[in-house]
Formats: sequence, C-alpha cells, structure tokens
Amino acid sequence: MSDNDSLQQIAHLRREYTKGGLRRNDLTEQPLALFERWLAQACEAKLADPTAMVVATVDESGQPYQRIVLLKHYDERGLVFYTNLGSRKAHHLENNPRISLHFPWHMLDRQVMVQGTAERLSTLEVMKYFHSRPRDSQIGAWVSKQSSRISARGILESKFLELKQKFQQGDIPLPSFWGGYRVTIEQMEFWQGGEHRLHDRFLYQREGSSWKIDRLAP
Ligand SMILES: Cc1cc2nc3c(=O)[nH]c(=O)nc-3n(C[C@H](O)[C@H](O)[C@H](O)COP(=O)(O)O)c2cc1C
Repeated sequence: MSDNDSLQQIAHLRREYTKGGLRRNDLTEQPLALFERWLAQACEAKLADPTAMVVATVDESGQPYQRIVLLKHYDERGLVFYTNLGSRKAHHLENNPRISLHFPWHMLDRQVMVQGTAERLSTLEVMKYFHSRPRDSQIGAWVSKQSSRISARGILESKFLELKQKFQQGDIPLPSFWGGYRVTIEQMEFWQGGEHRLHDRFLYQREGSSWKIDRLAP
C-alpha cells in the first residue's frame, strides 16, 4: 500500500456519535458536580485508565508539551496529580504555572477540558499520598530522575534492586524531588458528541464564587 493509499483510508475512518446529547437541563451549577458524574460514568464504563488526563504545559519559548498523568484527587480547590519535581513539566510550571488538562473520554463520545493554574502541594499532603502507594512504586519514585537523559534501562533496574535492599525495613522516606500539583479550575468545557457532527459543548467560566455557563458551537 502506498503512503497515499493509507492516507486515503485514514480520511475515511469516521463514526456517528449517538450516545445522547448534553442539554441545559443536564447541567449542574458547579462544573465539578458534572465532572464527578461523568468521571463516575467513565469508571462504570470500565474505560482503561478513566482518571488519565493529558496535561499541557509550555516551555519558555511558548512551545506546548503534553503528556498523560493520573488524576489522584479533586475537590472545589482543584484537580490533583503527582509527579517528579525535577521533570520537564515541573520546570515548565516553575516558569509558567498556566496549565491545561484534557480528559479523553471519547469511548463515551465525551471530552472534558480544563484551563487553570498549577500550585505546588504542601509536603504534608504529598507525604500522605506517597505513603499510600505500593512500596515498589515508592522505590520507583526514588529510582527515576524523571525526564533526564539515560544511557540504558539497566541503570534503572540495578538502582531499583539496590534501593529495594536499602529500604527493606521501615517507612520509605519521601524523596525531596517528588511532589504534586493542584490545578485550580478557571474554565471547564464539557463536550458530548452528537449526530451529524452537531455536538454539544458547554463552557463554564469562573466569575467570583459563581460560574457563567455558555453553549459553544460545535
Ligand atoms: C497512563 C499513564 C499514566 C501516567 N501517570 C503519570 C503520573 O501520574 N505522574 C507522572 O509524573 N507521570 C505519569 N505518566 C508518565 C508521563 O506521561 C510522562 O512520561 C512523565 O510524567 C514525564 O513527563 P515530562 O518529561 O513532560 O515531565 C503516565 C503515563 C501514562 C501513559
């Protein structure tokens, strides 16, 4: 098959979105309540990694980067994820805390987008979560200098074994380079696929303690 043929085939991949619409009556006053309902439905639908979200940050030149991380907690203060504080994303956020999250629930004909600002979590909050993780994941956090260049996988594996030995007993200390962020919600958009590409989109924008809600054209 030539490159041109395979391109033609991709161009014809399409499906109708028929899982039902999103109407004004379905909306909640606060976006988090609707988010909670959709997240519960994503879990019930047994999507792989329903809490996986694409996180976008920008570097100093304005170049956007994206990667998946797992949502670990949320409440009216924002959405929380954990990561390495020496990672590329952490460097971006030090320089520019503006951030965007995307939940790709397209198996349900849905997506949710968030724009906001990332704030570092307190050590206490990070420590509580860190110690709730399986021991091997805690050791994994110690092993990886996330986003740095390494010459071979073997380096990670031997360091893992070395640290497993070292931390055989007692609590594994929280690495100083491991932490998390809370993303405040300034805007949240809910997208539900509709027939004939007439999708439903609603944008919540924070206005003090309440929310302005607008329908957007698909
Ligand atoms: C399903 C999935 C879940 C992930 N969860 C996390 C996570 O919770 N935290 C994290 O730091 N990286 C997570 N990663 C790895 C990130 O996508 C990324 O490779 C890493 O954070 C380094 O990104 P950076 O170099 O842009 O900082 C996950 C990857 C996948 C595919």
